[in-house]
Amino acid sequence: MSEPGASEEMEPARGGLPLRCRGIRHVYRLAGRDVLALSRVDLEVPAGSSLAILGPSGSGKSTLLSVLAGLLRPTEGQVIIGSTDLAAEPERRLISFRGRQLGVVVQNPTRNLLAYGTPEDNIAFAQRALPRRSRSGLRTAGELLGELGLDGLRGRPVARLSGGEQQRLALAVALAAAPGLLLADEPTSQLDDVSRDRVIDLLRRISERLGTTVVAVTHDPVVADALAAAVTIAGGEVRPR
Ligand SMILES: Nc1ncnc2c1ncn2[C@@H]1O[C@H](COP(=O)(O)OP(=O)(O)OP(=O)(O)O)[C@@H](O)[C@H]1O
Ligand SMILES: [Mg+2]
Repeated sequence: MSEPGASEEMEPARGGLPLRCRGIRHVYRLAGRDVLALSRVDLEVPAGSSLAILGPSGSGKSTLLSVLAGLLRPTEGQVIIGSTDLAAEPERRLISFRGRQLGVVVQNPTRNLLAYGTPEDNIAFAQRALPRRSRSGLRTAGELLGELGLDGLRGRPVARLSGGEQQRLALAVALAAAPGLLLADEPTSQLDDVSRDRVIDLLRRISERLGTTVVAVTHDPVVADALAAAVTIAGGEVRPR
């Protein structure tokens, strides 16, 4: 009775995207001096799975996350997300790819947000990256804010939120356009245990219900334990946790 394709329509609009990187090396050039941040990183995260990246301060975690998000072009190496090879994409296509397919939370929460907008403005802005026809079925600002315990903050400018509130909002914004891959740098570093647990629940739900692939840098072993796999970065290389 069902026509071909009918069951696909019942599936979530987007599943997770697999992530693969090979031979990532990154050298920062700082005042005539070379700083080796990543010496050789290979990673593979299957679609819908999740990975925690641990490691000491200065070990290259944020550098790696920026490379995976296409925010930083590595000195060497390849990043493939779904069927997109980031190195092959010109800057404009990369920006559009990021807006439509990736949810990115950088380490400094305010850098993720429009400071003079409200939480709802920030969510609407992220959703505008999608073509209009793809916007039905997205979670509303009310739903996203409610899930992270931010209900009471509606209408308030972002600049007047606490660091932890901004951090949770940054995650809500990163998830607003239902990305295939979420890349989050220390998404719980400013949160108490209750808010951290909400974030963990949300990450589990998006992984289980929407199939979103998740890569999170974290210092928190509780967050790392909640994800499917974990690795450590040390000396610019990936080691088992
Ligand atoms: N823009 C930059 N220019 C030069 N060196 C940099 C730059 N950004 C980072 N580094 C250096 O690269 C190395 C890796 O930095 P990165 O920010 O990736 O570390 P991290 O693991 O995220 O640290 P943390 O846990 O403190 O956030 C460090 O030695 C750092 O000093
Ligand atoms: Mg960092």
